[in-house]
Amino acid sequence: PLYGESDSWYPSPQGGTVEAWRQSYERAAALVSQMTLVEKVNITTGTGWSMGMCVGNTGPVDRLDFPSLCLQDGPLGLRFMDNATAFPAGITVGATWNKDLMYERGRAHGFEARLKGINVILGPAMGPFGRLPAGGRNWEGFGADPVLQGIAAARTIQGIQAEGVIATAKHYVANEQEHFRQSWEWGTPNAISSNIDDRTMHEIYAWPFAESVRAGVASVMCSYNQINNSYACQNSKLLNGVLKDELGFQGFVQSDWLAQRSGVAAALAGLDMTMPGDGLFWQDGQSLWGSELTKAVLNSSVPMDRLNDMVMRIVAAWYQLGQDDVEQWPKPSEGGGPNFSSWTKERIGKLHPGSPDSKETGVVNQYVPVRRTAEGGDHDDLARKIAREGIVLVKNEDKVLPLSRNASGHPSLTRDEKLRVGIFGEDAFNNPRGINACPDRGCNEGTLSQGWGSGAVELPYLISPAEALRGRFDSQFVDLTYWPTNVVQHVDGTASAQELCLVFVNSDAGEGFISWKDVKGDRNDLYPQKGGDELVQAVAAGCGGKNESGYPVGDTIVVVHTVGPTILERWIDMPGVKAVLIAHLPGQESGNALADVLFGDHNPSGRLPYTIARKEEHYGPSSKILRVANGLAPQQNFTEGIYIDYRYFDKHNITPRYEFGYGLSYSSFKLGGLFVHPVGSWTQEPKRREASPVSPPQLDRHIPDPEQALWPEGMQRLRKYVYPYISTAAEVKQGRYPYPEGYSHIQEPSPAGGGEGGNPSLYETLVSIQARVNNMGPVAGDAVVQLYVLYDPDTVGYGNKALDLPVRVLRDWTKIYLEAGKTEGVRFGLTRKDISYWDVERQNWVVPRGRITVCLGFSSRDLPPTACSTLPH
Ligand code: NOJ
Repeated sequence: PLYGESDSWYPSPQGGTVEAWRQSYERAAALVSQMTLVEKVNITTGTGWSMGMCVGNTGPVDRLDFPSLCLQDGPLGLRFMDNATAFPAGITVGATWNKDLMYERGRAHGFEARLKGINVILGPAMGPFGRLPAGGRNWEGFGADPVLQGIAAARTIQGIQAEGVIATAKHYVANEQEHFRQSWEWGTPNAISSNIDDRTMHEIYAWPFAESVRAGVASVMCSYNQINNSYACQNSKLLNGVLKDELGFQGFVQSDWLAQRSGVAAALAGLDMTMPGDGLFWQDGQSLWGSELTKAVLNSSVPMDRLNDMVMRIVAAWYQLGQDDVEQWPKPSEGGGPNFSSWTKERIGKLHPGSPDSKETGVVNQYVPVRRTAEGGDHDDLARKIAREGIVLVKNEDKVLPLSRNASGHPSLTRDEKLRVGIFGEDAFNNPRGINACPDRGCNEGTLSQGWGSGAVELPYLISPAEALRGRFDSQFVDLTYWPTNVVQHVDGTASAQELCLVFVNSDAGEGFISWKDVKGDRNDLYPQKGGDELVQAVAAGCGGKNESGYPVGDTIVVVHTVGPTILERWIDMPGVKAVLIAHLPGQESGNALADVLFGDHNPSGRLPYTIARKEEHYGPSSKILRVANGLAPQQNFTEGIYIDYRYFDKHNITPRYEFGYGLSYSSFKLGGLFVHPVGSWTQEPKRREASPVSPPQLDRHIPDPEQALWPEGMQRLRKYVYPYISTAAEVKQGRYPYPEGYSHIQEPSPAGGGEGGNPSLYETLVSIQARVNNMGPVAGDAVVQLYVLYDPDTVGYGNKALDLPVRVLRDWTKIYLEAGKTEGVRFGLTRKDISYWDVERQNWVVPRGRITVCLGFSSRDLPPTACSTLPH
C-alpha cells in the first residue's frame, strides 16, 4: 500500500490453533454449539453504557449458565471502587525495572478484581507507547521502549491472569495522543490517523502486544484512532493479519468504548466484542451490533463462521482463565457477579441506571475489602515497595542524600539547636478539598499520585510527603516548617531561615475526556506545572541564606511527581540544588515511599523509563502533539520511524540531560567477567512456519430461520438497553452487504507466525551472555544491569542493502540485590527476534549481516567497553 494507506487482510483467522488453548476451545465448542443465534450475538455485544454495574457488561446466556461478563478499568487499580488499592501507575512500575514487582502488582490487581466479581481488567496499557513526550496517557504504560513495555506488560498479564482474571492488552494500536483520538470529543468528523510504516509497526508499536500475546493475554482492546486511515477496530490488516495470524492471538478483541465505527466491516476485520455496546454515541440505544449483527448474520453479510469465532474466542477465554470454576466464580444465582456499582456509592442502587426506564433496584455495593489476601499478602505494603523503587534519583551532589532522622552528620548542626527543614510546594500536601475531590482525578490539586481519566482510581487514603516526613524526622532534633503552596512571594524569607529545603513540583496529564485548565489531556509543555519552576528557583536561591559570594548556604532537594519526561533545565544547575528525585506517580503510598528513599531505608533503585532532554525540541520535529486539525481526518505521519526517545537522541548525537535507563544509587556498581557466545543455529531467517498441529473446532454454519431471533413473547424491554432481538423477519434485508475491497483475496499466512507471539523459532536463544556485577559499596542495594544490542554502522540487510539501524537497543535487563562488597553472576539470553530487524520485503524477522555487539551497562549511555563484546559473525 501507499504510505498512509492500510492493506486488507481477510478472512479473519479462527482462534483455537495452539496447544495451550486447545482444551478451552473444545469446551467452548461444546457450549457454543448449543447456543441460538441471539444468544451468540448477546455475548459479543455490551448492553450499553451504565446498563450494568461495570464500565462494560456483556449480555448473558442464562439458559446455559454463561454469565454477563463484567469489564472494569483500569491499568493501575480498580476504577470507581471502594476499599481497593491505588497502586503506582504504569510509568512508575516501568521505572522500577523490577520484573518481580511487575508480576506481583498484576497479581494483586487480579486478586482484587476477582473478589469484586470482575471478569476482565482493562489493562495493562502499552499504547500510547510514548512517541510524544507530552502524550496525555503515556503514564498508563511503562516507558518509551518496546522491550521495557513488552516485558512489563507480559509480567503484569501473567500476574493478573494467575488470579483467573482476563487481562486486556490496550490500546491496539498507536493511540499516541489525546487530541483527535476520536471525533466526538474533538469536533472533527473523523479520528486522527496514525500513519506508520510496516517496519516501525513491527519493531516498535506492535512489539509489546507480541509479548502480551506470548504471555497468553486473553483480550486485546483496539483503539479509537485510525492507523493508516483505517479505524483500529476495523483495520483488517492489524486485527486479522498482524494480531490474529502473525501473532497467533487466541483471545478476543474488544473495542475501546465507542471505538467501533461500523457493523459488518468491523466484524469482518476481526473485532469480536463491542463495548460498551451502544452505537456511535453514548447511550444512543442504536448498537452497531446487537440486533444489527443478528440481521447481518441472517442475510449472510457476516458469515456464521465469523460470528461463531467471535463467540468461541470469548467463551474460550473464559474457560482458559478457569472462570467456569464455581468455587472461585459463583454463579449469579449464588451471589456471583459484580458486588459493586460503578455508578453510585450507596448500598442500594439502580440495576440498569443507564436506561430512562430503569426502576429496578437492589443491593449494588457490598463494600468488600480486598487490599489484603487471606495468606497475609498486604497490597498497601506492595504499593509502597513499587512506589519507592519507581523513584529515580538523578542528582545527588555532595552526597546530600540519604538524610538522617536526627540530622546527625549535618554540617550546620550544632547540638543545642535543632536542624531547620522546610517543606515547600503544594505537591507535598494533600488536596484540602479531599484526596478524591476531582472525578477520575481530573485536576492537579495537592500532591500528584496518578494521572487522570479512566486509568485513575479512587484513593482509599493518600500518605502525603509532608505527612510521611513529619513522622520520619525526629522532632527532638529537627524543626519542620511548611509552605503548602506554590506562591513565591515572600518564600525567600522562609527559605533563608532553613538549613535544608525540600521542594515539591509536579506535572499532570490524562485522558482527553477531561480537561484541567488548558490541559486537554495531552500536556501543553514538558515543564513542571503551577509555577513549579519559579518555586524551585526561589527556594534554591535562598535556602539557608546566602554566603559572601551570594551562594545559598542551605541545601535544596527537589522532588518531581510527574506523568513523564519533565524538563529540569530552569534550575537543575543552580548551586543550591543538591539532589533531585523523579518520583513519578506513586499512588496511595506516596509519602512513605519517598521517605524510604530519602532516609536510605531503600537504596534508590529506579531508572528512567524514558529520556529527559535539555530542550523539548531535542525529542525531534515529529515529537509534538498535533493540536490543530489538518484535515477532516487529521493526519499524523510517524516520519521518525523507529527513532523514538533514546533511539532518536543516539541517531542525531544529541546529549540528553539524563538518558534512558539512568538513575543513581547510594552505592556504586561494577561489571566484569563478561562472557558472550553464540548458540543455536544462526540462519538469517527463522524456521519455516509449521502448519498448526491443532485445528479450531468447527461449529454449525447453518443460518437459522429469522423467526428464531424475534423478541420473546411478553419480554420487558428497557429503552436504550442493547438487545440482540429483531421485531419481524421482514426487517432482515435480503442480499448481503457488499464486502470490503480485498475480501475475496485469501491471504497467505505470515511466515513470521505460527505460535502465540509469532513463529516459535523467533524466540530461540541465539546468544548467551554471562557477567559478574559487584556492589562496591558503601551500602547494600539493587543494581539494574541493562543489556543493549549495537550494530556496526555498515551492517546490511537481506538483499545486501545497507540497513538503517538504531545505535543501540535495549533487549533485556535484570535487577539484582547485592550486599555491600558482594559480587554475583548475571545471565541473559538473546533471542533471534532480539537481534533481527523486520524485513518489509520478506515480511519476516531477519538477522542482519554485519557485526553485532552486545553490551551490558547501567544506562543506555553507560556501557563500559569492558562490558561489551562483539560477536564473531
Ligand atoms: C476509554 C479508554 O480509552 C479506555 O482505556 C477505557 O478502558 C474505556 N474508556 C472504558 O472506561
